[in-house]
Amino acid sequence: MSLPDGFLDDLRTRISIADVVGRKVSWDARKTNAGKGDYWAPCPFHQEKTASFHVDDRKGFYYCFGCHAKGDALGFVRETENLGFMEAVKLLAGEAGMPVPDSDPRAAEREAKRATLVDVMEAAVQHYKLNLSTAAAQGARAYLEQRGLSAAIIEHFEIGFAPNANTLSEHLMAKGFEAAKIIEAGLSIKSDRGGPPYDRFRGRIIFPIRDQRGRAIAFGGRSLDPDARAKYLNSPETPLFDKGRSLYNFGPARAAAGKAGALIVAEGYMDVIALHQAGFAHAVAPLGTAITAEQLQLMWRAHPEPVITLDGDTAGIRAAMRLVDVALPLLEPGKSLRFVLMPEGLDPDDLIKSAGASAMQDLLENARPMVDILWQRETEGQVFDSPERKALLDKNLRSLLDKITDFSIKSHYGQEIKNRRQTLFFPQRSRKSSFTPWKKNTPQNALPDTKNSLLASANTGPEAEARVRESAILLGCLNHPDLAEKLESQLERLPYLCPDLRQIGHALLAELPEAEGQDFNHILSGRLGFDVIDKLLSIRQVASNPHLRRDADKEMAERALSADIERQFAIIGILEETSDARQEITSDPDEGLTWRLEQARAAKHQVESEAFNDGENEGDESHLSQRLQDYLDGKL
Ligand code: UTP
Ligand code: MN
Repeated sequence: MSLPDGFLDDLRTRISIADVVGRKVSWDARKTNAGKGDYWAPCPFHQEKTASFHVDDRKGFYYCFGCHAKGDALGFVRETENLGFMEAVKLLAGEAGMPVPDSDPRAAEREAKRATLVDVMEAAVQHYKLNLSTAAAQGARAYLEQRGLSAAIIEHFEIGFAPNANTLSEHLMAKGFEAAKIIEAGLSIKSDRGGPPYDRFRGRIIFPIRDQRGRAIAFGGRSLDPDARAKYLNSPETPLFDKGRSLYNFGPARAAAGKAGALIVAEGYMDVIALHQAGFAHAVAPLGTAITAEQLQLMWRAHPEPVITLDGDTAGIRAAMRLVDVALPLLEPGKSLRFVLMPEGLDPDDLIKSAGASAMQDLLENARPMVDILWQRETEGQVFDSPERKALLDKNLRSLLDKITDFSIKSHYGQEIKNRRQTLFFPQRSRKSSFTPWKKNTPQNALPDTKNSLLASANTGPEAEARVRESAILLGCLNHPDLAEKLESQLERLPYLCPDLRQIGHALLAELPEAEGQDFNHILSGRLGFDVIDKLLSIRQVASNPHLRRDADKEMAERALSADIERQFAIIGILEETSDARQEITSDPDEGLTWRLEQARAAKHQVESEAFNDGENEGDESHLSQRLQDYLDGKL
């Protein structure tokens, strides 16, 4: 677009380059002589302590005697704000109150409308990053250096700076983003007094938060002022940002977790960064809130046994305890947590700084299993010297066990707790018991046994049924990744009886976001080291099921898949009830069994009349109920 003759000259005379540059640098009062239009400052384009950057306000030029950067006000704005020529013209003209002739005003409008929140966020990331090298960010740079962050790490984590002004809002609006969109992105806040929106993050070091696909979805900002009301400020919830479902550094950490064979969960941004710098790239952090169930599921996609590091102070221990409650109902064979309680008062960042990466490594290797934390919470500091106190402990432990939904895990927890209880209540008698206090574990024995004793040996019966159903579900997902994506939250909770199929299920969830438009089987087979489709089709009932052919009708395939998933939940529920997995802690193991089987019968009846009653597979279903009936009778 061409500007009318003389427009630029007019603009240059109307604005003061000293004003424009003055927003980005602090003038050296000794060298500067404002009366003569002679200004000096440390150069914003290279790092220096002396003031070798000169501005001649009368001529409208700047020049650095150190790095030889030079230009006029427009050039300065383009460089420092990362703007195109016309954008810089518009910005300065706006400030000078000069209307800019626009060849097609609606084109710009259309473009700005098309901009998505993701575009706004990305522009903000770049702006904050750029700010970090301006003069105003001198304090921020010094702070980062004092905390031991290398330039490479600052670049890697895209750390930026928000000065104590509204530069971001101004910059984004100058780029043509609508104020409403900038506000919606959580970057600026609407002014009560009707003025322009003001920046949410001011005077803070900025940590961009990206989702697993790498899109910038939020920011964390650390105040440079030790007396600030909030040390860290995070973006509010926006259409892009759901705090409880996001983790800092998740994408890169997930990629690194495969190689490292581990995932570390720390509390804060700086911990993740310090861990990365010490060689632990597989670290994530929640975003200023307690870890949620959704965040746990996300972690489990990166690694089956994340290690939670928590401050060794009482707040940290309390947080660990709360997390146990969140995790218990979600546990599955192979999906668990370990805990590292940091030495009192230290976070991973502090520890690495004071004792080195090897100290951190030691702690990680000695992470404690979750059952340890649970036991500690229930027993620590208490004396069980009366029947009433013992009974209360039993009651509490039982209700905790009841939170575990996976019946194999419930059984193992029951056994473990039974042993510990024995040692606690009857120390003499159980001196030779199998329980040994927790010791350093190798990763191999860290994972719980995945076979359920009750079902392991069966060639027919519930496990065989489950094998058909589980294979069918997996094949349906492989054939239709889009359906799998749709049913993702159910698949996440789906219990499996067959450990080999569970492994496929976990791999499938881990690869799901990348599966779009690719050969899903190829990806999964590569990950697992065997041909997944071949394995699933080795079951006769699966190979012959018309809904599971690649070319099957999509709608039918979806119905079949949903029905199978629903059935799986229902049947596993019944099996849990009928299994003896719920270890009796205090009483005869048979006490209550009859009652539970009665409950199971009722549940089974209900499932038969509801979930199974879709008519289509009548023969199949009655066959299956007969199997269940036989199974229950056998148990009785
Ligand atoms: P900490 O107070 O432990 O800070 O908060 P830190 O991570 O050690 O930070 P540095 O080392 O002083 O820089 C842990 C995490 O809790 C959240 C942040 O995510 C932080 O990283 N937090 C903390 C907030 O969201 N707001 C706060 O005011 C403080
Ligand atoms: Mn810290």
